[in-house]
Amino acid sequence: MATTLNPIYLVGGSKGGVGKSIVALALADYLQRRNANPVLVETDTSNPDVMKAVHGEIECAAFDLDEADGWIGFVNYCDAIRGAAVIVNTAARNQAGVARYGATLASTLDELGRRLVVFWGINRQRDSLELLREFGATFPEATTHVVRNGYFGTADKFALYQDSNIRKSVEAKGKSLDFPDLADRVSDDLRSQRLSVRKATQTLPIGQRAELLRWRALYDAMFAGVIGDA
Ligand SMILES: Nc1ncnc2c1ncn2[C@@H]1O[C@H](COP(=O)(O)OP(=O)(O)OP(=O)(O)O)[C@@H](O)[C@H]1O
Ligand SMILES: [Mg+2]
Repeated sequence: MATTLNPIYLVGGSKGGVGKSIVALALADYLQRRNANPVLVETDTSNPDVMKAVHGEIECAAFDLDEADGWIGFVNYCDAIRGAAVIVNTAARNQAGVARYGATLASTLDELGRRLVVFWGINRQRDSLELLREFGATFPEATTHVVRNGYFGTADKFALYQDSNIRKSVEAKGKSLDFPDLADRVSDDLRSQRLSVRKATQTLPIGQRAELLRWRALYDAMFAGVIGDA
């Protein structure tokens, strides 16, 4: 039953630089190619990098989740675009705002007819896990998947997470995922040229495009394991 509800995919992690933006870009590309009609909610108001990359291709809106007002706008927006899958790119500094105002969203999910699916990016340090515990307290109903970002090493290097209690509670409902590492040369192009993945597959030189497609096939498999084809 719950799986038929239109999702809000929140890409979190709270820590700076864990790969929230690149996972959000990959997710936008994945959903776009499956005609899931994604829209992007950009909440990184100081560096709206994902919005800048995808705004020509998918509908975008920006809200400041540090403020009560931003959460109200965000919830109203989710209501206004009921047919769409919502991708939320969060900012590192949003954690305090989530704890303070996140209930604005949590308490309206039923009425919105939506479920919250979280992709929580982690690196190999402890703080990403502690922040996830805090986040989970605000959104107990969410399905959370932890995303081990291959940029920081292979899955076996995430020993802290592997041995943690939080992994057990995540895997009771969600999954531990491995997000593939993209060659620096290509991720630098994405970043500096503000490219969406789709645009990059059309404009980058052949060598970079080959690497991009290799990477895309890997994250397609990752998302397919938890989202399916819709
Ligand atoms: N899987 C990956 N493959 C290649 N590069 C990566 C990967 N993950 C992260 N990076 C690189 O690491 C840097 C930080 O990634 P990103 O901007 O996605 O993190 P973030 O969590 O959104 O950071 P911020 O908190 O600043 O918003 C970027 O330069 C990005 O290209
Ligand atoms: Mg970011």
